[in-house]
Amino acid sequence: MIHKITEYISEEKLDARIRELAAQISKDYAEKEIRLICILKGSVFYTCELAKRITVPITLDFMSVSSYGSQTQSSGDIIIKKDLDESIEGRDVIIVEDIIDSGNTLSKLIPMLQKRNPASLKITTLLDKTDRREAKDVQVDYVGFEIEDKFVVGYGLDYDQSYRDLPYIGIVEL
Ligand code: IMP
Ligand code: MG
Repeated sequence: MIHKITEYISEEKLDARIRELAAQISKDYAEKEIRLICILKGSVFYTCELAKRITVPITLDFMSVSSYGSQTQSSGDIIIKKDLDESIEGRDVIIVEDIIDSGNTLSKLIPMLQKRNPASLKITTLLDKTDRREAKDVQVDYVGFEIEDKFVVGYGLDYDQSYRDLPYIGIVEL
C-alpha cells in the first residue's frame, strides 16, 4: 500500500541532532566503554548513526521485544522475541530506542535489564511523544526530538513494516 507521506524532520536536522547527542554522550562517558543496546527493528538506523559518531569505545548488542496489542498502540505486556547475545553485568549500558510513545515498553524492559546488574543503565530515544506518556517511571536521558502526537515513519520507523528506509522522518496520512 502506498500512503501520502509529508516530511516532518529532515535528514539534515536528524544528522545535526544525532551529532550533538553523540558529542554529549562521548563527554558523559569519557574513559568508559559503552554497550549500546539497539531495540530491533526500529532503532537500527538511529543506532548506526549514533554509534558512528560516539568517540569513546562502544560494543553493540541487539534485542527484539514486542508488545501485545494493536499495531499503533501498545498495551502493558512485552515479550522478548530476541534476547541479547552478551551479558551486560558490570557494563555501562545505553538502550537505544527509535520512539517512546506510552513508555510502556520501556517501563517493562528497564527493570528486566536492571536485574542483570549493569554498572549503569541509561536510555536514549530519537523521538519522544511526551504528551502520550502513560508510564511515569520512565526517565529518558538523551532525547533527539520531542514530537507531537502524530504517527511518524522513516529512519527505521515503520507503518506495517514499510517506510523504514526513508532517510527523513515523515508523517503518514492514514
Ligand atoms: P510505547 O511502549 O508506547 O512507548 O511504544 C513504543 C513503540 O511503539 C515504538 O518502539 C514503536 O515501535 C511504536 N510506535 C509508537 N509510535 C510510533 C509512530 O509514530 N510510528 C511508528 N512506530 C511507533
Ligand atoms: Mg520500537
